[in-house]
Amino acid sequence: MHTQLVKVDNHVDNDESYQQVVDCLRKGEVAAFPTETVYGLGALATDPEAARKIFEAKGRPSDNPLIVHIGTKEEAGRYAAEISETAVRLMDAFWPGPLTLIFKERPGVIAKSVTVGIGTVGLRMPDHPVALRLLRMLGGPLAAPSANRSGKPSPTEAAHVLHDLDGKIPFILDGGATGVGVESTVLDMTSVPPAILRPGGITAEMIEDVIGPVRTETGAAEEEAPKAPGMKYMHYSPDAPVWLVEADEDTIRQAIRVFSKDGGKVAVIGPDELRTDEAGWYFATGPYADPGSLAARLYGALRACDDTAATVILAVETPLEGMGLAVINRLKKAADGKRFIR
Ligand code: TXA
Ligand code: MG
Repeated sequence: MHTQLVKVDNHVDNDESYQQVVDCLRKGEVAAFPTETVYGLGALATDPEAARKIFEAKGRPSDNPLIVHIGTKEEAGRYAAEISETAVRLMDAFWPGPLTLIFKERPGVIAKSVTVGIGTVGLRMPDHPVALRLLRMLGGPLAAPSANRSGKPSPTEAAHVLHDLDGKIPFILDGGATGVGVESTVLDMTSVPPAILRPGGITAEMIEDVIGPVRTETGAAEEEAPKAPGMKYMHYSPDAPVWLVEADEDTIRQAIRVFSKDGGKVAVIGPDELRTDEAGWYFATGPYADPGSLAARLYGALRACDDTAATVILAVETPLEGMGLAVINRLKKAADGKRFIR
């Protein structure tokens, strides 16, 4: 299959480009598109065969449900069995935006291959002009996981999608680099109080300001059977092993020395302030005090490490607040728990 990259620029009238992709989706094919978080790989969520193609292209385990994207808040009621007043407040506060809400599903609407038959559905209205225009032209729900090969970092540029899925999907709508850089917050509205299953762009504090206390992911909760089935699969792994390291100049320098023994080569992903020539490669991710800029650049940096000869990747820790929580959550998975200690 040939993969066609379709550039869309909002200052140009490109109805035809969108129409091509809409036609393809209506025929039961898949297509990649940008959202404000990461690129998604979409298929009509009501078409089981189309959804199956997503799992096939990604190499995704079939027990991991897909998020359903919608173009308007009003559509939520078509797919969710019941929408509480609390959920409406969240939708009003954060949609469109990087917040996925898990509801009991309205039976028989969304394909079983999308919800994987667990009786709930994750809904989100993305805050990206290309995604919204596509959804509105399509007029239907779009099931879409991140558009990477399963286990690889999520794509934040069309080139990342092409790298992973070239020849496996017909279309990529190229809307440039995404903004947030890490995936949406997943909030389970079926539990009391609502529980954050995956931290993301909308932080616990932001949610609590609107609806009061929520359950956040804790160390203990990760031991339990994961409620967001995908959490047990996420690795975000580049080719070389990743080690977390404290944001301390001496510790980073020592880690570089340790990992450089016996011909090892070290790439560092870290804040602007801690750049060091002792690393083979240093991918600067913005100011230390701004986890948001790290979020925006993290997956690109992890992928860039694959283009180096690095044998080890050191990822410098970020402050554990706001977006920092989402970033550390992804970094821990990428590192599979490994952390360098002096
Ligand atoms: O920002 C995002 O959320 C991106 C963009 C493309 O929208 N999508 C994304 O999808 O990250 P994916 O499939 O890579 O991650 C979806 C996560 C998984 O951890 C999955 O298990 C969880 O959401 N999830 C989806 N539906 C669920 C449900 N009904 N119940 C519990 N967890 C669910
Ligand atoms: Mg993903």
